[in-house]
Amino acid sequence: MVENGRETEFFDLRNQIYCTDCMELMAHIPDSFVSLILTDPPYGISYQNHFARQPHKRLDGDCGIDYERFAWESYRILRDNSHAYFFTRFDCYPYHFDCLQKAGFTVKNCLVVEKGTVGGIGDLKGSFANNAEWIIFCQKGRRVFQQTQLLENRYKEGTQFHKGRKPSKRYKTRFPACWFGAEYPKATYHAIWQKQNGIYHPTVKNVEFLSWLIQISSTPRELVFDGFMGTGSTALAALRNSRDYLGAEIDREYFAVAQKRIKEVFEHV
Ligand SMILES: C[S@@+](CC[C@H](N)C(=O)[O-])C[C@H]1O[C@@H](n2cnc3c(N)ncnc32)[C@H](O)[C@@H]1O
Repeated sequence: MVENGRETEFFDLRNQIYCTDCMELMAHIPDSFVSLILTDPPYGISYQNHFARQPHKRLDGDCGIDYERFAWESYRILRDNSHAYFFTRFDCYPYHFDCLQKAGFTVKNCLVVEKGTVGGIGDLKGSFANNAEWIIFCQKGRRVFQQTQLLENRYKEGTQFHKGRKPSKRYKTRFPACWFGAEYPKATYHAIWQKQNGIYHPTVKNVEFLSWLIQISSTPRELVFDGFMGTGSTALAALRNSRDYLGAEIDREYFAVAQKRIKEVFEHV
């Protein structure tokens, strides 16, 4: 089948993760096909945690992906008036920002979200420990946030602060760009979680946190794309919120972990 001039015959483009290069999968996705991009690409920094007792293996793609091409393809496959979240790091941020803007995205914010564990420690005596994830939040066109039940307002529902203004709602409609403290889910799990759940990946993300972004930026049955699925966290978050998912993971071991996690979701319903 050919959609928008793209060959889609070998790719079922809903609720699938492919064990392939993200760019290979993207080449088969028609223009404006996905409703939300929520993705955690390798940063191109040869990430390896030397401090863990059993260091994680080096991540594929950590010598760098063609970020410029990835940004253009992301813009192409995203529907108009939709959101995109790209995980980044402080030292890659300027380059990623530049590529995303050149591709056509409007960069709205940089979300800074507390990690569940302190990570990326290099110089123990001469640098600050890295305790936050940075996420570039972009729009193609304009989309307003969905009304969610994620955070309750502190004051009573219906409170009218100023004459002529609408009474307050029970749930917050506006979120800050910095998520720290008990009110918010952490961006990553604590190291003990990986051990308890038998899921080993150097940059696994918290499904609850991804769920928040999915609820804010999409509606049920919309399609969420992540070209770098790792252990499948974005797919799990999409399923948890009745969204469809699509993505790639190049590493066979992580791909297998993602498949196992997804299968377990269906075994528990
Ligand atoms: C930062 S991690 C994502 C982790 C994921 N968010 C999770 O919670 O498990 C990036 C992943 O991209 C994969 N990767 C690297 N290059 C890739 C490529 N060209 N295409 C698809 N996956 C790739 C790596 O194997 C790694 O698992």
